[in-house]
Order: sequence, then C-alpha cells, then structure tokens
Amino acid sequence: MSQDKNEWGSNLSFILAMIGSAVGLGNIWRYPYVLYSNGGGAFYIPYIVAILLMGIPFLILEYGVGYNYKSSFAKAIKKINVKWEYLGWFLPVAVFMIMIYYSAILGWDGIYMILSFTKGWGADPNAFFSTTLLQSSESVSSLLNFIPIIAIAMLVGWVIIWFISHRDLEEGLGKVSKVLVPLLFLIMVVIVGFSLTLPGASIGLAELFNPDWSLLFNFNIWMAAFGQIIFSLSLGMSIAFTYASYTKDGSDLITNTISIALANSLFENFAALGVFSILGYMSMQSGTAVADLVTQGTGLVFVVYPTVFNVLGDWAYVLGPLFFITVYLAGLTSILSTIEPLSFSIQNKFGLTRSRTMTILIAVGAIVSMLYATAFGGFLLGVVDTFINQIAILIGVVAECIVFAWIFKAEKLIDFLNSKSKTLKLGKWWLLIVKYVLPIVVTIIWIGGMVDVISNGTFEQLVFTLISAAVLLIATLIFTILPAKNPEWDNAEERV
Ligand code: PHE
Repeated sequence: MSQDKNEWGSNLSFILAMIGSAVGLGNIWRYPYVLYSNGGGAFYIPYIVAILLMGIPFLILEYGVGYNYKSSFAKAIKKINVKWEYLGWFLPVAVFMIMIYYSAILGWDGIYMILSFTKGWGADPNAFFSTTLLQSSESVSSLLNFIPIIAIAMLVGWVIIWFISHRDLEEGLGKVSKVLVPLLFLIMVVIVGFSLTLPGASIGLAELFNPDWSLLFNFNIWMAAFGQIIFSLSLGMSIAFTYASYTKDGSDLITNTISIALANSLFENFAALGVFSILGYMSMQSGTAVADLVTQGTGLVFVVYPTVFNVLGDWAYVLGPLFFITVYLAGLTSILSTIEPLSFSIQNKFGLTRSRTMTILIAVGAIVSMLYATAFGGFLLGVVDTFINQIAILIGVVAECIVFAWIFKAEKLIDFLNSKSKTLKLGKWWLLIVKYVLPIVVTIIWIGGMVDVISNGTFEQLVFTLISAAVLLIATLIFTILPAKNPEWDNAEERV
C-alpha cells in the first residue's frame, strides 16, 4: 500500500475536510437549542471558555500527535504503548457506529429534500414524521417492520459515500470537500439572510439573546457548553488525528486549528440566527410563544421546519429544498469523516488497500444500518446516539488525553508546533491544560452523562444501551487480537 493514497493534495483540502467534519447536524439542530435552553446570551461565556480551554488546546494535541506518526490511530497508539492498542481501536469503532446511525438521519433528510418541492409532509408534520414515515414504535418486534422507502434513501447515501471514499484521499474526499464545504456556507448565508427579513424575526432573536445571567452559576450550563464543543468540533474522536496524519510535511497545525474552530463557531452561530428568526416568524403567525416551539434534534429539522414551510406560502418552495439540501451537505461532509479512522487503522494492520477497505466497511455499514430502516429505528437511534456521545466517546477522550499528554509526552511537540506557527505559540499553559484541566473536566462531563443515562433511561433504553456497549467492546476486541498481516504494522515512524 503506498502512503500517497492517503495524503491531502494541499493544506486547503485538509482544512476544508476538517471543517466539513465539524460542521454537521450538531451545528444546525443541536447548537441553536443548546444556546437557547442554557441562558441565551449568557451561554456565550461558558461557550467561549470551552473553546479556549478545551476545543483549541485539545485539537492542537490531537493534530500534533497525528501529524507526528503519519499513521493510523490504532497503529500510533500501539506504538506509543503496546498495552493501549485496545484504545486505538475503541475510538475508531465508536466513530464507525456513529456513521451507521448518521446514515439514517441522512436518509430521512434525503426524503424530506424531495418532499419539500411539494410540501409532501401534509398539514400535520409531526404525525407525518413519527407515524407515517418512521412508524415509530418502542416494541422490539417492530424490528421486523421494515420500511422500504427509508432503506432506499439510506442506500442512496451509502452509494454516494462509497463513490467518494473508495478513491484516493485527495481524488475523493479532498476534492469533494473543496466544493461542498464552501457551497454549504454559501447556501447557509442565503437561508439566514432570507430568514432575517421575515416579519417577526426580531421576536425570535430577542428571545434567543435575552441573557439569563443567573444561569452562569449553574453547573449544567457549563456542562452543556463543554459537551457541545466536544460534539461539534468532533473532538477526541480520532478523526482530527487521522486527518492530521494525512497532511504533508510542514503544516502550520496551530493556525489550522484556530481557523477550523472559528469556522465551526461562525457556522453554528449563524445557524442559530436563522433558526430563531424563523421561530420568531412562526410565533407571530401562530400566536404560540417561541419557548413552546423550540425543540431539539430531529424534531427541529423534521417537524418544526416543515411546519414553518407550511405557513410560509410560496417562498417555502425555494427555502424548503435549500434548507434540506444544506442539512444533507452538512451531514454528508461529516459522515465522510467517520469512516476514515477505522479504515486507515485496518489498512495499516491488515495491509489492505484504501479502496478495498472502504468497500468492505461501507458494505458492512450499509447492511447493519438497515436496523434503522425499521419501525424500531428511531428509538434505537436515540439510544445508540446517547450511549456513544454521552458515555463511550468521553471515556475515549479522557484515555486519549492521558495517552497523548502523559505517555507520549505532549512537551515533545511544542518546539515543532511553535516553529511552524505564524500565530499562537504554545507554552507551559498548554501543558497545564492538556495534562490536568482536560482529563478532569471531561471526566466530570462523563459522570454527568452517565448519571443522566442511568437515572432518566427507561428499561428498554438501558437494555439497548448495554447491547450497544457489548457490540462496541467486542468489535474492538476482535480488531485488537486479530494478528497483523502487514509487516509495517510495528513500524510507526515519527516525523517530529
Ligand atoms: N461534528 C459533527 C456535528 O457537529 C458531528 C460529528 C460527530 C461528526 C462525530 C463526525 C463525527 O454535527
């Protein structure tokens, strides 16, 4: 296998692909809701602290180590310390599990993209989404109730992913990111620009930014800010690591990190302006308070937006398709990143080509993802998403922090990173953050997440959380104990 199949053509491809990974559904549906429900304008204080204290320092660490090894996450972790190889597979497998359920959301969005040309969701978008389309049920037997239209939409997504990912890195992901990411920003500007001119927009914005300073002393809003940054920047997920290992010699990783974090925040705050202008308009039309209209997640994208488009008249035929295309592009550029860590690790350990590894992984992903094309899919997706994001990834993040900062020794990177940096220079403060602050803060968030899952979960949710955990742990174990087929596996050279 030649390395150049896994190398960015330019720094621009690297930055745009990384922004593509970061800017996803989390920026469009998750952030506006998080901002609103955590003190509005006052949320900016914990949010900025989270970016400065965790987002940027941690990304620099992940990039630095990834760049140093120029090899996959599993291979590098094993090189740092053989005993930790399990972690080297744990995060890539967890991220691959994200990929599988993300494909369902992408599929739903594909269906809405088509429906939006005719407002095909009808007069009651809520009933349409959960009853007509998803046929949502919490009973396990509904796993047998297969929904062909969702399956088809998801398979279309998998074919697009295969088409891009099985090529050499720059030919596929690099080129696609250079087109799709700027396009995504452009369409978002059009949508938000339009939303701001709607009557009532100011009602929504006033509601959004009306700061509730008293919440600043509330522990939960700090947790929410750190949680949002981990999710939104795809921190500690081995993605940033893998992308940095694909860079050519001599990248300015510190400046890249700052650009990526800025672009991500810009996008999500922009999205929040759009979402709340539209909710303000809707509130004026329907006489319902903004607070009663706000929901998060799939509810916002697939219920609130169609409801808004129903009252928007003919403009909806333009804005509707544009909106669902934006969500599709944002989702696509994120999902493309979720296969890279596992794929590269497999290529390194088993000596398979990029193209063949991608084909196998995508086939497996597509088959397993059919679980989400059943009436049980919506429920399952919620459970797996919560498990991965509130529990599994956070354990990985803490472990990664310990391995990179302590065992690898983050100080080794400082001179190299500073010598390339045209902006920020690292010093003792950075070591203090990555060695002490980060592991402690993330452990606290993890405990909060565990308590939430255990105390608020129903019996079925807990059972399926345990099943997801078993799948993750067993798949990780298999990759760890299978014997390597590539003689290069034990030979991770260092660049720094
Ligand atoms: N960062 C992405 C978002 O904001 C989500 C994501 C998580 C993408 C994990 C890839 C991997 O939506």
